[in-house]
Amino acid sequence: MGLTNTGSLQLQAGHVDVWLTSLSNVSSSEASAYLLLLSEPEQAQWQRFLVNDARLQYLVTRALVRTTLSRYADVPARAWQFETNAYGRPHISQPLASCNLRFNLSNTTGLVACAVAIDCEIGIDVENTTRTVDTDELAPSVFAPAELADFREAGLEDRRDRFFSYWTLKESYIKARGMGLSLPLDAFWFELGGASPLLCVTDRCPDIPGRWRFYQHAPTDEHMMAVAVAAPQGVEPSIHPRWVTPMSLIAESA
Ligand SMILES: CC(C)(COP(=O)(O)OP(=O)(O)OC[C@H]1O[C@@H](n2cnc3c(N)ncnc32)[C@H](O)[C@@H]1OP(=O)(O)O)[C@@H](O)C(=O)NCCC(=O)NCCS
Repeated sequence: MGLTNTGSLQLQAGHVDVWLTSLSNVSSSEASAYLLLLSEPEQAQWQRFLVNDARLQYLVTRALVRTTLSRYADVPARAWQFETNAYGRPHISQPLASCNLRFNLSNTTGLVACAVAIDCEIGIDVENTTRTVDTDELAPSVFAPAELADFREAGLEDRRDRFFSYWTLKESYIKARGMGLSLPLDAFWFELGGASPLLCVTDRCPDIPGRWRFYQHAPTDEHMMAVAVAAPQGVEPSIHPRWVTPMSLIAESA
């Protein structure tokens, strides 16, 4: 097992690669190899997790981001250094020459995702739609009025999907903005039903909605994913999701 083709992939402005890793069937030899990629503080953090699933999710997420970035730059996976902004969003701090590589991470039960792009803002969210959540109870506190009305109008069969559709879109946007929940959740909303989701904002969420594109995808029967991308003017963004095992050379299309 090894990632020897470091730096061989190229990204074009506006293009987003999404790397997906299943958390099922991670062998102990894979886990041991991933651990060697982590920085000392990351290894210490990994040891502090008491719950096995959370521990594995943390390990695979770190291994995925490090090996993924090394596909685009001739930098060993263990050499990447990260800092976080005031809202907790990580970005590359070293090597400086690779700081125009942007990434965003999301993890949920069974799945880890890493989106990568160059010179553009991106955000990703994946959710396990089978997790226990009272959607009727939660919706009023996380959706804008228009979203809430649309959610409530959905038939019983569609409600859960509608809920996670809005949820993942809102998370992808919050994460692309990098400002966490300091962006009021009722100050922006999405319109579904067209060719792709449309963002609407109020003056409590100043932005130019037209600069954003949103993509939705179901990587498995149990997972929903949304990606937000603001590409440079005049560039139509595209996304390419694929499955991968960190450190393997081969990736499959999702
Ligand atoms: C911080 C936040 C990004 C966490 O989101 P989440 O859904 O719990 O978690 P995800 O798995 O999608 O994302 C976590 C990853 O996002 C990244 N992240 C953390 N803060 C971030 C920020 N401000 N901006 C972008 N990315 C951020 C990190 O890489 C983190 O993983 P790591 O800690 O392992 O490095 C934030 O959006 C939040 O707290 N959401 C709460 C959930 C909520 O109420 N959502 C309402 C949706 S309608």
